[in-house]
Order: sequence, then structure tokens, then C-alpha cells
Amino acid sequence: MNHLQCILQAQRSLRWGPLASVSWLLLRTCRTHSSFSGATCPSAKGQQEDGVQKDFSSRLATGPTFQHFLRSAAVPQEKLSSPDVEDSPPYLTVDELLGRQKKVYLETYGCQMNVNDTEIAWSILQKSGYLRTNSLQEADVILLVTCSIREKAEQTIWNRLHQLKVLKTKRPRSRGPLKIGILGCMAERLKEEILNREKTVDILAGPDAYRDLPRLLAVAESGQQAANVLLSLDETYADVMPVQMNPSATSAFVSIMRGCDNMCSYCIVPFTRGRERSRPVASILEEVRKLSEQVLQLIHERDNICKQIHLPAQSGSSRVLEAMRRGYSREAYVELIHHIREFIPGVSLSSDFIAGFCGETEEDHLQTVSLLQEVQYNMGFLFSYSMRQKTRAYHRLKDDVPQEVKLRRLEELITVFREEATKANKTFVGRTQLVLVEGLSKRSATDLCGRNDGNLKVIFPDVEMEDVTNSGFRVRAQPGDYVLVKITSASSQTLKGHVLCRTTLKDSSAYC
Ligand code: 5AD
Repeated sequence: MNHLQCILQAQRSLRWGPLASVSWLLLRTCRTHSSFSGATCPSAKGQQEDGVQKDFSSRLATGPTFQHFLRSAAVPQEKLSSPDVEDSPPYLTVDELLGRQKKVYLETYGCQMNVNDTEIAWSILQKSGYLRTNSLQEADVILLVTCSIREKAEQTIWNRLHQLKVLKTKRPRSRGPLKIGILGCMAERLKEEILNREKTVDILAGPDAYRDLPRLLAVAESGQQAANVLLSLDETYADVMPVQMNPSATSAFVSIMRGCDNMCSYCIVPFTRGRERSRPVASILEEVRKLSEQVLQLIHERDNICKQIHLPAQSGSSRVLEAMRRGYSREAYVELIHHIREFIPGVSLSSDFIAGFCGETEEDHLQTVSLLQEVQYNMGFLFSYSMRQKTRAYHRLKDDVPQEVKLRRLEELITVFREEATKANKTFVGRTQLVLVEGLSKRSATDLCGRNDGNLKVIFPDVEMEDVTNSGFRVRAQPGDYVLVKITSASSQTLKGHVLCRTTLKDSSAYC
């Protein structure tokens, strides 16, 4: 089957016919690894894309054939994995596909999926040389990421389009025409109806067509309406790292699948977002890894975030970790610890450990001892194993470490933990620590208690001190105050010292 037949088959299977009125270019019809394309779209023999591009100008003299407007079906697998190396359509120069600093205004309607889609669309346009603007007035391109879930959602978009039409007509000629695009579910559901009803719309891109946005905008630049509403069986934008629209957002979405196969009798989603498909696990992990690194980076940068991370290891033996079904080995855990310490020098680490889990041998136990020595935690929570009903261990494993052995091993772990934590905490002696005051010490009414930047308990006498922000003033520290404390002694659990002054986060950075 050649490429054209393949496209028609795709159209038929999606129950809409070829549309003549606009340039419906169907670029992503064939993906070599989908069952759909694999079965029906073998490569178009003898049609090398290179060749098409090279002889294009010579053929121009006699006029291009229909084939010149189609991409080859033979897209090598590795090329699909990166939008950077995607072939450009043969009739547009690479230069025409660039945004050339044009400003894009993106507006998101509807669900979290649309928030994520906006980030994907923006990531693609950013790579193409577009700039983003938060001002409608400044925009050269306005893109609405739309929702079709209920009638009202669509009505909102129609109303918005009427407002944007005014903006378009009022725009001074000198600024060049404003381009307006409808992205997402409404583009998919209504297709050409939008273009026919609203001449103000220049481009349409369905939820699986965002990679095509630079080309659609380039076509729109030449004055034509452009659309790609082809649904895909396997597009997950796995290799497109979403760019968060609001850098100060407090949450981020990691999308793991697209589409829906449920076909609930009231719902349009299977028709607008297409077949259900999952993103490859590796690409999800990569995105989550990047997000975790951003969190580490924030902990490192911000003085108001405590530099302490709790990473419960449970055991230092990979064999026991497997029996516990923890999903990591000792080596992977240690690697993570090194990574965190590289990112946040001086970070304070704490952990949980269980002594005497099912099947734990003396050798396993010694591995845990050595992990405690290797990591040198600042804080630790150590327990002897107690079998709990309903757990997998209860059903499948044997609680075979005798109680006295569990307790002896626990004691050994506690001793080693204390030795190491004391060593680690002693490095604070002689140094000044910024302490967030919590209140009176539990053990002494004349002492105050607070936490340093590593969340370690710091005890110091409750005396009058200078207030850095009101020099000359003497104050007593209150819960919530920041004070500077010079550390004079350290144990495995606490630091002790004397208070120097009351301060603020900002003023303290000079001292600590
Ligand atoms: N026996 C002993 N310790 C346990 N923990 C959880 N379940 C058990 C158990 N059955 C410990 C783990 C966990 C912490 C909250 O409690 O170390 O991280």
C-alpha cells in the first residue's frame, strides 16, 4: 500500500473523509512500530526523501506532483525519538519553520491533560525559535488549548474567539497579521467546522499533532489556513520534555498516558483524544528524575528550606532489600546518597532500619552495619522486625530470626549509628549555626530548643541577647525567631551551645 492509500485508510478508520478546503497535511500517518502502520504501511519503495528534496527545484519547472507534498512512509525509528532531527516537510525551507522570535500567547482551558499539553506545545515551539508572552497585546500568535468535554466548555471558546477577532482586526498592519490557533480536543471534534465558521482561525492542531505546530504556523504565515487533526495510535510525546508554564507553580503534572478506550456512553474523550496509549516507562522516569533534581536544586538554593533528607534504607543488604521488595539495591541506594551530597553539600541525612527481617543472616546484618558506617547518618530510626498480619511477609516469608538475635542486632545497629552520628555532629563544634527557635527544652526550664539547617536539635541557655535588626536592643528569643548559636558540644542526638544574637534569614547568611 502506498502512502496515499495509507492516509486514506487512516481517515476512513477515523470516520472522516479527505477535506479539500484547507491544507490537510497528514504527516504522522505511519509509525513503524505501531500495529496499524506496521501492518498497512510498508515503506514506499524507491521514494527516498532526500531524492525528493534534491530534485524538487528541477521539477518545479514542470510543476510538482502530488507526491511532492507527502512525506515518505519510511521514517527510521531512531529519527522519531527526537523532534530535533525530524525531517522538515519538503515544500518548506528549514528557515520558514523557525519562529524567528515571534511571540506566542498560550491559553489553557479544561483538564490537567490540557495543562500538560500546553507545556508540550510550548516546548516544541520554544525549540523552533518562538518566544512566549503573557500579554495578549504583545502576541503575534495566540493559541487556545481547548476542551470539548461539555457544551459549555466549547461555548467559552467560541466567545473567546469573538473577542480575539476584534484584536486581530484592530492590529496595525505594520506589526504583521496576528495568527490564531485552536489546539486540542475542540480542534479534533469540530475540525473544518471551526475554520468554516470562524475565518479568524488560522491553524487547527488536534491533541496528537503538536509536533506539527511549527509547520502549521509556517503555512499560516503564507496566508493559508492549516490543520492537522490526525489522531495517532502511539504518539505520547515521550521525548518532549514539558516546559512548565508558570515557573513559580507549586505543583507539576507528569503525564503517563494519553487517550481513552473506556467509551463511557456519555463521553466525547475517546473521540477527541483517541486510543489509549501509555508513555514508555523510561521516559516517565526521566521526567520524574528531572523534577527530583529540581527539588534538590531548590533545597540547595533556598535558605528557608531545611537541608535534611530522610531516605529510609531499611537494610544494607541487597538480598534482604529484595526480600523486603524495596525496589533498589544497596549500590543504587549508595549512588543516590552520593548524588544528593553532590547536589546539596553538607546535607543532613536520616534513615530507618529494620533489624532481623525474615531470612536475615549475620552477613546481611554486617552489611547494614557497614552501610551505617559508609553513609554516616545524622539521624536514625532503628527498629527490630515485628511480623504484621496481612503483609506479604506474613503470608510468604518465615519470621525466622530469634527474638534475642533481633534485639542483639538492633543494639549493634544503634551503637554503630550513635558512633557515626556523634562523629558527624562533632564537626559542628566551634561553628556558628542558624537556629529556628521551637520553645523551651523538654529537659531544662532554663534552656531553649531549636533546629539548625540540618534539622538537628540545638539546645542553648534562655538568656537575653542582642537583636541584629534593632541594634542596641536586648531581647529573649521566642518560638519562630532565628538566632545564631555557637556550638560548644555535640552528641549523637543534639548540639549544645550559647546564643550570640537574634537575627533574620537574610542577615544570617553573612555568618553561617
Ligand atoms: N517491623 C519493624 N519495623 C517496621 N517498620 C515498618 N514496618 C515494620 C515492621 N513490621 C519501620 C520501617 C519504616 C518505619 C516507619 O517503621 O523502618 O520505615
